[in-house]
Amino acid sequence: MHDNLVLEPRDVHFDWSQLPLHWIPDEPMATHTINVLHLLLPEGERWFVKVFKEALPLIRDDQLREEVLGFIGQEAIHAEAHQEVLDHLLGQGLDPRPYVRQITWLFRRVLGDKPGLTSRQHRENVIERVAFIAAIEHFTAFLGNWALNSPGLDRAKADPTMVDLLRWHGAEEVEHRSVAYDLMRHLDPGYLRRVRGMAVSGPLLIHLWIRGTRFMLAADPSLNGSLVPTWREAQKAAKRGLLPEPARFLRSALRYFSPSYHPTKEGSSSQALAYLAKSPAARAAATH
Ligand SMILES: [Fe+2]
Ligand SMILES: [Fe+2]
Repeated sequence: MHDNLVLEPRDVHFDWSQLPLHWIPDEPMATHTINVLHLLLPEGERWFVKVFKEALPLIRDDQLREEVLGFIGQEAIHAEAHQEVLDHLLGQGLDPRPYVRQITWLFRRVLGDKPGLTSRQHRENVIERVAFIAAIEHFTAFLGNWALNSPGLDRAKADPTMVDLLRWHGAEEVEHRSVAYDLMRHLDPGYLRRVRGMAVSGPLLIHLWIRGTRFMLAADPSLNGSLVPTWREAQKAAKRGLLPEPARFLRSALRYFSPSYHPTKEGSSSQALAYLAKSPAARAAATH
């Protein structure tokens, strides 16, 4: 089922010293809605790496093991790239730590490894967490595909370094979009597992995103709590091409339940690779 990927971790670096607080000029709501990525991803992607390392001994397919190792390498770099943005926000007077502490608790305590399980229970627990990740990776590929096709960000003169971060990361998400799904199917091909993964991850992700956007707007020292996110505002920002359309996002989530679903049917690998060939950060990483 998988498509013989050779996944290469690209050791990118970004200079955030010139990043404005509202990196989409005059669009604090769209800026902070996208900034939720920086709140969720460092801990989230570190958790992916941990779970996938635990899954390695369960893999009985050499090609898939190589893909999982490539995935681990890419996600580890993604986590650190977003962490640097968080550190920069703190330096600008927007303290993300109260929200990040909750996310850390969620991924390390609630979704972390459970001591004292039998080997059978441990295997089941790993597969269940892989299924959560497979569903989340459906969304990261959706968002990556959006980032690669988001001329609205360029029209709005969004900060080019941040746009490159979003598109570089988005392109790697599209590039490795099948790995978590193929790993889940390798460990348990059952439809119920897939459905359960999405039933848990989908609503949780939406909940965290809404809370995260509210948190960022409230914590932004330049706004004095004057801006509260609404669906209407999100729709309007989406119409301007600054955010994905909420309806499109929900339709995409529903496609995951189709019996014939496979991540390769979403997004374009060749478009992702074409961006990675021209991304300033990926090109600089390739010459090091
Ligand atoms: Fe990632
Ligand atoms: Fe990913």
